[in-house]
Amino acid sequence: MADGTHGFNTDTDLQADIAELTRTVYPKIESKVSLLEWQLHVPLIAKINRLKRQKNAVILAHNYMTPEIFHGVGDIVGDSLALAREAANTDAQIIVQAGVHFMAETAKILSPDKTVLIPDLEAGCSLASSITGADVRAIKSAYPGVPIVTYVNTSADVKAESDICCTSANAVEVVESLGVDQVIMIPDQYLARNVAAQTDVKVMTWAGSCEVHEQFTAQDIRGMKASFPDAVVVAHPECPPEVLKAADFAGSTGAMIDYVTQEQPAKVVLVTECSMADNIAHASPASEFLRPCNLCPHMKRISLENILRALESETHAVEVAPEVAEKARVAIQRMLDLKKNTGKPGYNMERAHMIDPDIPVISRQSLANAEPRRHG
Ligand code: 13P
Ligand code: SF4
Repeated sequence: MADGTHGFNTDTDLQADIAELTRTVYPKIESKVSLLEWQLHVPLIAKINRLKRQKNAVILAHNYMTPEIFHGVGDIVGDSLALAREAANTDAQIIVQAGVHFMAETAKILSPDKTVLIPDLEAGCSLASSITGADVRAIKSAYPGVPIVTYVNTSADVKAESDICCTSANAVEVVESLGVDQVIMIPDQYLARNVAAQTDVKVMTWAGSCEVHEQFTAQDIRGMKASFPDAVVVAHPECPPEVLKAADFAGSTGAMIDYVTQEQPAKVVLVTECSMADNIAHASPASEFLRPCNLCPHMKRISLENILRALESETHAVEVAPEVAEKARVAIQRMLDLKKNTGKPGYNMERAHMIDPDIPVISRQSLANAEPRRHG
């Protein structure tokens, strides 16, 4: 609150909330967050939760948020698909996106009348920054008539130039829903190759990648399996196909969590961002989580401090130009309207292990090289 009270009439009120949070939330994260750290976090969590109620705000928290955000203040937690769905359905007047910028833009596109806040404007994504709306227009003019399937990890400008969006949860379903024999799937070359292994539709892609998942190698996984033969390897489809080939399960972050919490493997390697294991440790008491994992520097820009600041001052409000938002909404809505839209099961591992399609990768360079030929 601008008056600095955060909705607490007295210090006793604040202490009561702190005691309640320590009883209800701390047990979920105590194996990951020391009591000392918790004592620093809990007043912020109490203030954020009070302000949310006062301002009719909701916090959408991605699975890669740190445990104190995920369990302490997240109202809706999940993968990109779950968060997009919730952004379209929530009755709250303010949405705070505890995630990265493209997620906040997606929320704004789906809920244009709501205030959508991102706690740090610099929370970007290497995939989103790999391609622009102008690049997509160049692709469309080089490959007329081939549908553009766009990963949600992109800017509103890119979505506005696309036929349909997808997430890692529903990418195969989206590609197959179009009833065509060829698509261009942008911008993640690894997700596109992993999807191409799952379907008979021909897939072309763009030269983008996730800076977190591209670092994992099949050698990492084989090394892990050699040391711990009984470890179950669960990988995100933004990883290179060679990594999926060595994995036991692949799916969106939501599908990975469901798999581990249901199967409760004794030893598990989550080949993805590090906070995932921390967030599900409490719900998977029988599982031991083994490294490797990598941190996403963009997701890690979000903290309790900047979430509180965002709610207090209602910054940074995300805006999307109405003409861009209108076109981008069509592409997102087509994805959300898909009949089946289960978005949960993992990838078909038999196909992931057997097929490694070498698919065409479009880049600015390849488009520039093709240009003179087209006009020559
Ligand atoms: P999902 O949560 O949709 O699996 O995406 C992972 C990711 O990297 C989001 O940035
Ligand atoms: Fe982007 Fe990768 Fe970070 Fe997700 S994990 S936000 S895809 S850089």
